[in-house]
Amino acid sequence: MGFGNLLTADRGGVRTITVNRPDKLNALDRQTIGELQIAFDQARHDDAVRVVVLAGAGEKAFVAGADIAEFSSLSPMQAVAFAQAGQRMTCSIETLGKPVIARLGGYALGGGLELAMACHLRIASTRARIGQPEINLGLIPGFGGTQRLARLAGRAAALELCLLGTPIDAARALQLGVVNRVVEPDALDAEVATIADQLAAAAPQALAGILDTVLAAGDLGIGDGLAYEAKAFGLCFSTADAREGTAAFLERRKPAFKGS
Ligand code: COA
Repeated sequence: MGFGNLLTADRGGVRTITVNRPDKLNALDRQTIGELQIAFDQARHDDAVRVVVLAGAGEKAFVAGADIAEFSSLSPMQAVAFAQAGQRMTCSIETLGKPVIARLGGYALGGGLELAMACHLRIASTRARIGQPEINLGLIPGFGGTQRLARLAGRAAALELCLLGTPIDAARALQLGVVNRVVEPDALDAEVATIADQLAAAAPQALAGILDTVLAAGDLGIGDGLAYEAKAFGLCFSTADAREGTAAFLERRKPAFKGS
């Protein structure tokens, strides 16, 4: 299906989804949130898609937040529904079962950072500016920011970013563990492509197992988490890819994973 506010492109097993409202710094209005929900549902059900890259159009912003012009007139109940729609969409990304890489070329603010935090890896350029500035609007984050930032970078970082509302640069975000890597702007696409290609060539069931078990670590105690991991480890042994991966090691050759 065609999207009004998204661009999609496939290269091998890598699907790139680009939020395409550069004149509004890719702000997330309801239409864009709905389209992202559909785009990620499509990626989930398409076996040819092994990894997703999520980007923002233009060099200025990944996503500069939820669309303030649109949400400023919401009633409290409409605002709850708006937050829930954003949370559903970000949860769909987090639980996609395939790795999602956020390409942060510029502003990742408010709902933009919340969107990026639902992704599994965040690769930033030195131009990225990252923050939860909702406090400056008299608001709090509503698309999972208070919960995911605290889980990702700890309570101290979550409180610093949400209470002060001041965006941080990419180096500080790396220091806090909010982003995984920082590269020069002209190296960003190559870095993202290298990581995406590596993930696209990996065994998809094993990737799904890692995504699922690491996510569960946020909710489970150590005993339950280890029991969950052992079962997920066992499940990998039902795949041809696990047989191929171990055989390739023993035969001193590169594995060719087929996704089965
Ligand atoms: N919602 C709606 N529109 C947004 C937006 C958002 N979150 N962020 C930027 N825009 C729009 C601006 O209104 C402007 O539109 P216009 O040209 O029709 O007036 C356009 O995008 C460009 O933004 P502008 O503010 O002119 O760019 P800038 O370079 O001067 O400043 C920012 C960039 C990111 C610092 C500034 O846009 C900003 O603070 N945005 C809001 C960030 C925020 O609070 N996000 C959390 C929302 S919950």
